[in-house]
Amino acid sequence: MKITVAGTGYVGLVTGVCLASKGHQVTCLDVDEEKVKTMQKGISPIYEPGLSELMQEYMDNLTFTTDYTDAYKDAEVIFIGVGTPEKSDGSANLSFVYQVAKQIARTAERDCVVVLKSTVPIGTNDKIEQYIHDKQIHDCRIYVASNPEFLAQGTAVRDTLYASRIVIGTDEKYPAEVLMHVYEKFDAPKINVGRRSAEMIKYASNDFLALKISYVNEIANLCETVGANVEEVTLGMGYDKRIGNHFLNAGIGYGGSCFPKDTKALSWLASFNDKEIRTVKAAIEVNDSQKLKLIKKARKYYDDFLFLNVAVLGCTFKPGTDDLREAPSLVNVPLLLEDGAYVRIWDPVGTENFKKRIPNGKIKYCDTIEEAITDADICFIFTEWDEVCNFDISKYKKLMRRPIVMDGRNCYALEQFEGSGITYGSIGRKTINSTEE
Ligand code: UGA
Repeated sequence: MKITVAGTGYVGLVTGVCLASKGHQVTCLDVDEEKVKTMQKGISPIYEPGLSELMQEYMDNLTFTTDYTDAYKDAEVIFIGVGTPEKSDGSANLSFVYQVAKQIARTAERDCVVVLKSTVPIGTNDKIEQYIHDKQIHDCRIYVASNPEFLAQGTAVRDTLYASRIVIGTDEKYPAEVLMHVYEKFDAPKINVGRRSAEMIKYASNDFLALKISYVNEIANLCETVGANVEEVTLGMGYDKRIGNHFLNAGIGYGGSCFPKDTKALSWLASFNDKEIRTVKAAIEVNDSQKLKLIKKARKYYDDFLFLNVAVLGCTFKPGTDDLREAPSLVNVPLLLEDGAYVRIWDPVGTENFKKRIPNGKIKYCDTIEEAITDADICFIFTEWDEVCNFDISKYKKLMRRPIVMDGRNCYALEQFEGSGITYGSIGRKTINSTEE
């Protein structure tokens, strides 16, 4: 089919490339000329495992352009995958979505299905349909359907090609059939629901996962107080199929472009409708305080970090991405700097973005973990990169001035630190104090 995808961020580009890999002719549209030029060379502007390779393999089925008139005029299906960033009141900013809708209304010349992939508040599909119909110029039928995405950064290609489910939100026969055809070659359960339900499925799923993480983080905090080990606890919980063993990793809180934004958006939506969604509100509060958990723990060893060498391992919100949005490092590093610490950061892909987010000439960026921890007085782990998890922990003892490791992602087994001479604090587990402490 002839498909156009508006927006080439994580959602748009991954969707476009995966659709092209299934034989569709896909035009990827973006307003950013530089980005489009990069993609025309077969290079992905975002770091996402497997994406560039897939892009290069299916370049014959892909076109990249900034020309929306050309991209929309005879497309059979138009996916909208532009961003819906958070506004200061927590609600979703839909200006990019409306901008695209306006352009479609002015340029689409044939019957087509506009598919909203961006995460949007419940009722947005209805409004977009009305908006397009009001502004439409050409005599053609433009349907609007919801098709939320469930891809996670770092596994976006796999999550799209082998989706847990494909939700098709429409009450009408034609767009449902068209979308079934679009996804014909995707081996995933496909469900057809109403548009508002589809919109809600996205928020309800993300917020449930956020809630699950905040819940396990609170259990972890309690485990520390009562002498239990959260990993043993979640191991025991996970065997219950009703609970499941995914998303039970305790840590210093969730980040990323989705959970923080979508929890706030649902909370906002509830209050806008004179309702309160207390569980989600609690998940947000727990997450905010969880992000500061490690630094509080470290204060047991240092009242403040003035003139201390502080190593930071990992600054992205999770491994496998260079994305820093809402990453715990963004809250913690400024606190360390404020305290007067000499901060050295190691991250395999996130440092360039970090420099942009926290421009501070005093931060030293290191190429290796060894460089970051040498002579350090304390080391914080904010992201569970493989390089950190597989690191020879004896080097903490060998290279650090004072071997104190504060692990916000439970990268290591506690046994590794028994008798190691290293002080090791993590989340939801006992702290191992080196004999020298
Ligand atoms: C999330 C969802 O997992 C996707 O299903 C969804 O499509 C996506 O949002 C979206 O709405 O676009 P993503 O934000 O890329 O994906 O990343 P996740 O892997 O879900 O991780 C989010 C955060 O939760 C990370 O900071 C991670 O460290 C944290 N996390 C995750 C935990 O603290 N514990 C866990 O057990 C799992």
